[in-house]
Parts: sequence; C-alpha cells; structure tokens
Amino acid sequence: MKTKLKGRDFITLRDWSKEEIDTLLDVSFDLKRKFAIGDFTPYLQYKTIFLMFFEQSTRTRNSMEAGVFQLGGHANFLDTSTMQVSHGEVAKDTGTILSSFGHGLACRYCDWGKGNKYINEMAKYSSTPVMNLQCDLYHPMQGITDLMTIKELKKETKHLKVSIIWAYAESHKKPISVPLTQALLFTRYSMDVTLAYPKGFEMPDWVIEEARKNADDSNGSFKISHNIEEAFTDADVVIPKNWGSWSSKEENVDITKFKDWKCTEKMMALADEDVIYMHALPADRGNEVEDSVIDGKASVVYTEAENRLHTAKAVMALTL
Ligand code: CP
Repeated sequence: MKTKLKGRDFITLRDWSKEEIDTLLDVSFDLKRKFAIGDFTPYLQYKTIFLMFFEQSTRTRNSMEAGVFQLGGHANFLDTSTMQVSHGEVAKDTGTILSSFGHGLACRYCDWGKGNKYINEMAKYSSTPVMNLQCDLYHPMQGITDLMTIKELKKETKHLKVSIIWAYAESHKKPISVPLTQALLFTRYSMDVTLAYPKGFEMPDWVIEEARKNADDSNGSFKISHNIEEAFTDADVVIPKNWGSWSSKEENVDITKFKDWKCTEKMMALADEDVIYMHALPADRGNEVEDSVIDGKASVVYTEAENRLHTAKAVMALTL
C-alpha cells in the first residue's frame, strides 16, 4: 500500500499510480464504515481548506464542506464572483495568499481551455496541496467515487463490461471531464470499456490513445461505438450522460437529431440482467434518462452520490 501521500496535489488521477489510487479506495471504504457506525475521524483537526467555485455545485461543494467538518477541520466556501479574481487577480496571487492562510486549496473551474490551466497555475504557487473539484479536462473526485461504487457493487473489475454513453440533454452543456476521467481510469482496472457517442462528440485524440494503452497494459479493452444499442448490449455497468463537444465543431451540430440517445427501459433490457445504471448527477430527467430507469432497480445513483462524501474525505485525509 502506497501511503506517503501528504502534500500531494489531486488535480488528475493520471498523476496517481494505481497503488496510490488503491490506497484512496481503501481509506474511502474505511471512512464509509466509520461514518456508518458513528466513529469520529478527527484527522484534520484545526485545519482550514478553501473551496473556490467558478460554477454551481451540489454534490462537490457539500461533500467537501461536510467532509472537512467531519474530519475536524473547517471549509471556507468561496464563490469566485465575490472574489478579486472577478476583477482579474491572477492565479499566482490567489494561490500564494490563500495557501498561506490554511492547509488546502480546492477549485472548480470548467471553462474550456481555462480551468485546468488556472488550477495548475495555482498549484505552482500554492504552499499547500491543491484539489481539482472539476475542470475542463478532469473530474478526479467523481472518477474515484465511480470506481469506488463499481468496486462496492460489482467487486471484480476484470472484464467488467462498462459502457460510457453520450446522452441527449437540454439542461446545460456539460463538460467532457466526467467521461474523459472515467475512460482513462476504468481502463487501468482491466475493465472492458466502450465509449459510445454520435459522431461530433469525440474525445481528444490523446485521450483515446491513452485509454487504449491503459487497456493494453491492464489486459482490459477499450473500444469506440457510434451505436447506442451496441453499447447497452450485455453491459454490466452503463453510464449514459451528456457531454458537450470540446471543439468548435459541435457549434454547428443540431443536437436534437440525437434525442434517441436516451437511457430507456428498452435500452436497459439489452444489458446484463444485473446491470447497474450510474450517473454523476445532476441528470436531465426525461432527456438523458427515463424516470423509470433512474428511479428503478438498476439505478445506483444515490449510492454513487453518497460515496462522494467518503472519497472526498479520503483525498483530504491522505493529502493534507
Ligand atoms: N457530480 C457533480 O460533480 O455534482 P455537482 O455538480 O453537484 O457538484
């Protein structure tokens, strides 16, 4: 078990070895068990963490705030529209100063071409670990939670058929960071991963190359499909979720053409009888998924959401 993780940034799981990710999972399960039986876990007593949000959040903000408190510390929530960053203060100044006030700095910033750069720039100057609460490229807090949930419910990941599927949505243009993180992470755990989407919603080439390499190295597999039925057929885990295109190509695409890319009972009937339905949430009910699926027996979305608390606590307890 790799346990020397104090001081580490958590910006992308690509920077963490498989042994280190296994430690995160182990600690997450331990914290989940301790929370269930009411054990106190004051591993971050008197520590302060700053949570900067450029965008809205329900799960990420509250799992971090509740998590820090349950670890004995304090979270300062910062809406960036009320900070001097909105007047142009640079990442160097914000990162240097906030880190001098506390013990950890976390940020959500999803603007394409900006978010990941901003978080890395803060990390360059921060004297404390920096955590990525979702950027334009990565959502490591969601990725580790999804892996925990799959391990909790399916136990064995080898040759588990996992389909990450684009789904139609009208709520808002969602970043690619969730499916991108899942494709790069699940292929390290010997899963048979299918990434399915209508043409125009490709991941960047480097992501596909790395997912293929990860799958080769772990004896799993990775394939791309443009056929939604194929993606559902015999799947053990389905993750149908909208993402917007990262490239400008999509601006010209009429996405209403893809309303059929929806998780329906008919699609679920193609999957393995013990299939689980996952979604990072928030879901666009009625568009991405039928109510009867997300509220049905295959849905594990509330376990998945609950696990955000335990994994967030594990990341903080191990790194701060
Ligand atoms: N899944 C997720 O990151 O949810 P929030 O946007 O509510 O934080």
